[in-house]
Amino acid sequence: MSGADRAKQAAAEAAARLVESGMRVGIGSGSTVRHLILALGRRVRAQGLRLVGIPTSTETEALALTQGITLAEPDGTPLDLAIDGADEVERGTLRLIKGLGGALLREKIVAEAARRFVVIADASKMVETLGERAPLPVEVVRFGHAATAQRIAVLGGRPVLRRAQGEAPFITDGGNVIYDCPGFAPIRDPFTLARDLRAIAGVVETGLFPSHAECALIGTADGAVTELERPA
Ligand code: 5RP
Repeated sequence: MSGADRAKQAAAEAAARLVESGMRVGIGSGSTVRHLILALGRRVRAQGLRLVGIPTSTETEALALTQGITLAEPDGTPLDLAIDGADEVERGTLRLIKGLGGALLREKIVAEAARRFVVIADASKMVETLGERAPLPVEVVRFGHAATAQRIAVLGGRPVLRRAQGEAPFITDGGNVIYDCPGFAPIRDPFTLARDLRAIAGVVETGLFPSHAECALIGTADGAVTELERPA
């Protein structure tokens, strides 16, 4: 296992310990969350942990089912907790960029349905200002997406259509495409940027999570985990 993977596993296992029997828990997507699902599966088998997981992607859903985790969709009942990875975590504020894995829309729906949202990541995801290491993913409806991208470009985003294998566009679980936008960096005011992007017809959602995470569990390769709380 690589050092980065050990760091992800340490953060994920710390988050798995936050889950108590009877909880409804949002389960994010990505390689860090994969460790979370495996850790939860071990608790289900060894301790009889009972939880209802709300998966944010078809990939998460498939893995969670192999681990004996009962699943449901958000139905308006608040979730006790949601746990997810991130592509960037801003030091001091816990503002996030998410969506390099392509699941940002469901991830945001689930994060907003939760009473508490905990982000798990390895230390390489920490940045001083959003945009430092990741382009901003913006999910766009397929109809007229090139025209929508032009409007994103006017805001300065330098949008690049995400591709799957070959030339075909990557299609999200919601049936949309994603434009990765490196041009917004550094993102000093994610609230205004999110509002301006969402005002463009055709934009479904952005990978900006400016006020969602209350807590971050940041792992390092030696297995240590630092807990960061969002300032009040
Ligand atoms: C998917 C995401 C993931 O949480 C993010 O990409 C982090 O993934 P990983 O844990 O593999 O680094 O936002 O849409």
